Formats: sequence, C-alpha cells, structure tokens
Amino acid sequence: MMNERAEVQLNLEEEILKLKKELNAVILAHYYQESEIQDLADFVGDSLELARAAKNTDADVIVFAGVHFMAETAKILNPNKTVLLPDLEAGCSLADSCPGPLFKAFREKYPDHVAITYINCTSEVKALSDIICTSSNAEKIINQIPENQPILFSPDRNLGKYLSKKTGRDMLLWDGSCIVHETFSERKIIELQLKNPEAKLIAHPECESSILNRAAFIGSTSKLLKYVQEDNSNIFIVATEAGIIHQMKKVVPDKELIPAPPDNNCSCNECPYMKLNTMEKLYLCMKNKSPEIILSHEIIEKSLKPIERMLEMS
Ligand code: 13P
Ligand code: SF4
Repeated sequence: MMNERAEVQLNLEEEILKLKKELNAVILAHYYQESEIQDLADFVGDSLELARAAKNTDADVIVFAGVHFMAETAKILNPNKTVLLPDLEAGCSLADSCPGPLFKAFREKYPDHVAITYINCTSEVKALSDIICTSSNAEKIINQIPENQPILFSPDRNLGKYLSKKTGRDMLLWDGSCIVHETFSERKIIELQLKNPEAKLIAHPECESSILNRAAFIGSTSKLLKYVQEDNSNIFIVATEAGIIHQMKKVVPDKELIPAPPDNNCSCNECPYMKLNTMEKLYLCMKNKSPEIILSHEIIEKSLKPIERMLEMS
C-alpha cells in the first residue's frame, strides 16, 4: 500500500515537472502548503517573498500553490502572464471578513485616514486601499506614515492590535480574524510550557493577544523560520499554521518543534483553505491550464498602485 502511494506520488511529481517545462512555468508555494508541494516548488516563501518572486519571474505561467488572494496579487503584478491556482475555492477567512462594498463604506466614513491593508484581502479591497502590507513589513510601513496622519488598518484585528502596540499608533481596526491563528489554546500552551520549561513560544502576529503576550518572539512565517535557526534554544512551540514545521525541520533537524495545540482535538492549526491544494489538483491545473485567475483591467490598474507602494516602502 505504502509503495503504491509512493509510486503515484512519484509519477505525479514527474508529470508536474514535465508540464512545468512545457509551459515554461514557475511554481510558487506558501509555507502552509502540504509538504510534497513545498518540496516540488521552485520557490517557497511568506506572502511578501512570494509577491516579490512573482514580480521578478520571467516564466510565462505562474502556478500559485497558495490561496486566492496570493494568486490575485501575482496576477496584478503580471497582467500579461497566465496565473493558475490549483483550487479556486482556496480562500481566506480574513479576505472573506472584508467584502468590498463594506470596506468602501468604511473608507468613506473616514476620508482623512490613510488605508493600510493587509495583503490577505481581495483585489477589490486592495483597489480601495492606499498601501498594502504583509506581516513582515507592516511595522516598517506604519513607521513611515507621518505622526499626525490617522490610519485605518484592515482586515486583521489581531495583527492591527499588535502593530498599534509596537508602533504606538492608534489605528482604527477592521474586525476580521484568521480562523487558524485564533484557534490556539492558551491553556494548552501553558501546560506544554510547564512540562517543557525550556520551550520557547514563537507566534505569528495573526494570533490573539493572549498568545502573543506569552511569546518570546513574534514574526511572519519567514521570520519564525529564521528565528529557530538563529536562536540558541533547542525546543520551540510554534504558534502558526503547522505547514511551516516542514521547512523548520529541514533547517534545524536536531531541534524539537512542537506545533501549538488548538482548543479542540481537531486539526484546526492547519489552514483548510491552503490544504485544498493537493498534488493531484496541482497537476490538473497545469495540464488543463485552469483554473486561471482572471481580473479586469480596472481592478489590476487600481490594485497595482497600493501593492507597488508596499514594495517601495518595504
Ligand atoms: P505570512 O506568510 O506573510 O507570514 O502570512 C501568513 C498567512 O496567514 C498567510 O495567509
Ligand atoms: Fe487566511 Fe488564516 Fe489561512 Fe492564512 S492561515 S490563508 S490568514 S485563513
């Protein structure tokens, strides 16, 4: 049984690599993708690194192994390239929490505010924003906004609260959250730390403040990956989507990496949207050149500006 499964995987991998050549495609994958996809990808990174990789590629086709807003960002940066996403349903609870018409009304209510918007949002919301940010550059971007300039921060209230605290800026926050990063149990983390007193808690800033307040380090997925390499500790409790553990194990094979436990006995520390992409769907989307990300010229034009501002400011 094991061998049969391994054989199917091997063939799929071969077929995907063949199609990659035929299409002159590049495969970009986020850290939350399943490990087989990460291992096959040309580039694995966090949201900012993936946006940069999409901007710099000379491939004709970008195959985005991530979620919809990430593939949309790649399309906005490459309007003339084909951008494929293995499953169009691979969304994001943060993007869902912030529908374009409601965000437009929010902006209109506060016309004197600058809208800094987390990249985890739809292209429609990006088009209505002034500057896009990710968790790795948000602090740097906010620090460049003049002191007297009021700010709207959307859509992640946890990231927004964390950034307000870090930068000392009193921002108006949209009330959205990530279903994965809100799942971690403070009680179970404390239990784990009592059992492993030397374990360091590291957390993504999308987590709730009860978790962030206990963390020895807070950062984007790439920053967490770097931290486990550079820090002297040998044991970490990792409060972000469990997919990152795959890359962590590669760079620190001798360290102990404990995925932060969710509240229930579920796999809620795995993003259900990210995990919609599978090797099979990756293969099929390359074979059929579909599903493809299609955006109007108007949306591309309007949403490119705040993304470019982000790239300039970060
Ligand atoms: P980063 O990869 O930018 O840290 O973002 C995490 C995330 O939740 C992506 O959806
Ligand atoms: Fe969205 Fe959270 Fe999944 Fe990231 S982990 S894609 S923020 S739902």
